[in-house]
Amino acid sequence: MSKENNETIIELKAVTKRYGFGDAESYALHNFDLTVKRGEFIMIMGPSGCGKTTLLNIIGLLDKPTSGKYLLNGKNVEKIPSRRKAHFRAKEIGFIFQNFNLVPTLPIIENVSLPLIYSGYRKARRLRMADNILEHFHLREREYYMPYQLSGGQQQRVAIARSLIANPSIILADEPTGNLDSRNSHIIMEELQEIHAAGNTIIMVTHNPALTTYATRVINMLDGEIDTDIKTVDDSELPRGGKNEKVSVKVLPNRDNVEMEIISDSEVTVSGENVSIKEEPKEEKAPAKKPAAKKSTTKKKKSSAKKGGKK
Ligand SMILES: Nc1ncnc2c1ncn2[C@@H]1O[C@H](COP(=O)(O)OP(=O)(O)O)[C@@H](O)[C@H]1O
Ligand SMILES: [Mg+2]
Repeated sequence: MSKENNETIIELKAVTKRYGFGDAESYALHNFDLTVKRGEFIMIMGPSGCGKTTLLNIIGLLDKPTSGKYLLNGKNVEKIPSRRKAHFRAKEIGFIFQNFNLVPTLPIIENVSLPLIYSGYRKARRLRMADNILEHFHLREREYYMPYQLSGGQQQRVAIARSLIANPSIILADEPTGNLDSRNSHIIMEELQEIHAAGNTIIMVTHNPALTTYATRVINMLDGEIDTDIKTVDDSELPRGGKNEKVSVKVLPNRDNVEMEIISDSEVTVSGENVSIKEEPKEEKAPAKKPAAKKSTTKKKKSSAKKGGKK
């Protein structure tokens, strides 16, 4: 796949999600086509029940279409063996949910480090990376707090930090400000705007039309289909990686042999119930020197360090 700007990152072709059969048959998504370019900030709107969450869940590999095709980074996700899906998801997709979905029994720093469980890094390194990113979010002094000790706005910033730490291709946010007051919503939107400006691709569901000013594209859905789809920023004007120096996240090496489930549809979990992830007895990699994955190599080229560097 090509790495230049305007690269297609997501392609949905005639994706349908059907529930029930016969008389009870209904469609959460119906022949849904969508092409997303790297660097887009898409807001999805539409009445309750029109399929917004289903769409995000399918894009985020938390759900499978009944029919149709989904290419992520040019890869047909149907072909990814299920045992590797969680790994693929952790590397490629960052999630932000309305209810934050932090693991209540883990301190903030460990919540943030969760997507790194596939990285092959030892725990000390994962925590160091989480510590770095929490500093950016001005939450370092609370990193050993438990989630319940933080306000909603703070918890959502933790969730954003978590969504970024593995340097994913795309960030999916399902009504991320839905449980926040307007002041905290504003703070979260400013964060997302900055993350987008750094070259990241974001797809966000919202009920709040005022927030669409942050978007480069607004899609209105109706009954499982696209009703309107308006780009307010031309593809050629989309932000590229490497501009923004604010969020610094290391590149991950490929570790295809580590297995762990991180995020389920409704909450963040780690299979085997606790989070003292398998410690792979591997030496720590210095990603700056030897990015292990092909993809990582490209990432490094694009931007030295920036979150926005992305592949
Ligand atoms: N597990 C399920 N079983 C049956 N119907 C479902 C299921 N999940 C979602 N639906 C239906 O699919 C439609 C779209 O749901 P959803 O994607 O959650 O909508 P939105 O996020 O836009 O409110 C709704 O009609 C909903 O009732
Ligand atoms: Mg929903």
